[in-house]
Amino acid sequence: MKLRSIAGMCVFVYLWRDRWRQRNQLVSKTWPYFGNLFEMRTNAARLYDWVYEYMSKSPTGTVEVSIGTLRAIMVGRPDIVEHILKTRFNNYIKARAMSHEILGTGILNADGDVWKQHRKLASYEFSSIKLREVSTEAYRELALRLLTFLDTVADSHKQVDIQDLFLRMTMDAFCKIGFGVDQHTLSPDLPEAKFANAFDKLAELSIQLSNRSVLNNDKHDLLSRFLSSKDQNGEPLSDKVLRDATVNFLLAGRDTTALTLGWFMYLLSCNPEVAQKGTRNFSNFANSLTFDALGKLHYIHATLSESLRLYPPIPWDGKFAVDDDVLPDGTIVKRGEVVVYVQYAMGRMELLWGPDASQFRPERWLKDNVYQPESPFKFSAFQAGPRICLGKDTAYLQMKMTAALLIRFFRIQVVPNQDVAYRVSLVLAIRDGLQVTVQRR
Ligand code: HEM
Repeated sequence: MKLRSIAGMCVFVYLWRDRWRQRNQLVSKTWPYFGNLFEMRTNAARLYDWVYEYMSKSPTGTVEVSIGTLRAIMVGRPDIVEHILKTRFNNYIKARAMSHEILGTGILNADGDVWKQHRKLASYEFSSIKLREVSTEAYRELALRLLTFLDTVADSHKQVDIQDLFLRMTMDAFCKIGFGVDQHTLSPDLPEAKFANAFDKLAELSIQLSNRSVLNNDKHDLLSRFLSSKDQNGEPLSDKVLRDATVNFLLAGRDTTALTLGWFMYLLSCNPEVAQKGTRNFSNFANSLTFDALGKLHYIHATLSESLRLYPPIPWDGKFAVDDDVLPDGTIVKRGEVVVYVQYAMGRMELLWGPDASQFRPERWLKDNVYQPESPFKFSAFQAGPRICLGKDTAYLQMKMTAALLIRFFRIQVVPNQDVAYRVSLVLAIRDGLQVTVQRR
């Protein structure tokens, strides 16, 4: 009898706890101690959709996820995202969340004063007109290299993995802009160039290059520019700082842009009427894709933003709480807990985008054919607040250059009956690549 009442009491406390949590807008189902472990394992291959499903049911979009004693708070409402990324910026830090071995003390992993120094230096470099010119040139050259490659397979029914080609293109572009070196991974024979190999090579290369740097005053690649920069004591940047900076930029800028272009191609193939509209608009500009001309491509800008809304290359991003806090919806955060804003779920929530949130509709970004930016706390693909992505403009530049040229000269068809699904990883890649066939227009 005694045992029964204890068991009954436990069930009552457990159910009561769940009801209490639901009143506080935290709706995920948990098991004592194991938390969400079983559910997460069942949903491992579709983790971001699993979070999205809970978020869309939560009145404030906040969901608690726990495993054992670890607790993460997933958020999606713009005012809460603003709270963690801006209002209480100093309370939500990276805490070296990513691999220290690879990223060192570079910008992506740094906090506090170290981050401030990186940010100041990098912001200065990113706003330089010279770098903008060098980038536009490199993006054009590499997009044309991609076109030349596609021309060799066009009309042959040969299948190619376009995601792989985009990754090669952004790698080559990054090396040109970052180090002033051409890696030629997009050569006609498509040399074996897996990301990890190239990444290792780059880390080495950046160190080798730093040794020949003094001879390079006339160069305008990022590394050369960093080499001529000084730290806060007026000293040249150390080899380690240089290596960390370049590796961080590579990680931040290479996959993100290429993967967005991959999803973009996939979405266009599902919505052929969008590609048709685009063609009429871009064809006038195809031969004069200067920086200014690219700025006028409002429809393609909207189309890329729409891809980023549905398939943000960084699907979620967590920050650790330095101190206890209360989020705007009343959720209590304890010191050391992680608060995650989930770009993937946010981009699909009807609460934010209306009843057609799941549809690919670039027009939602346009008014009188002019692109209308959204609040970065709502369209959070590039993060927001003081740490907003530094490469946003250059990423759009490269994506617009590539997309405009591709769509102008080729009809790209996604091979039917492929299982197009994402891989759960640091970035949102199409798990098995995207096989396409290419025809000349
Ligand atoms: C579609 C393309 C891109 C997307 C969606 C994107 C998104 C993001 C996001 C979500 C963050 C925050 C990451 C974090 O704090 O953990 C970030 C940071 C950053 N991104 Fe991008 N990014 C893109 C392209 C680029 C490019 C091309 C570059 C430059 C080469 C770049 C440079 C950076 C840098 C330096 C940061 C760190 C900013 C800081 O912590 O102060 N990104 N980006």
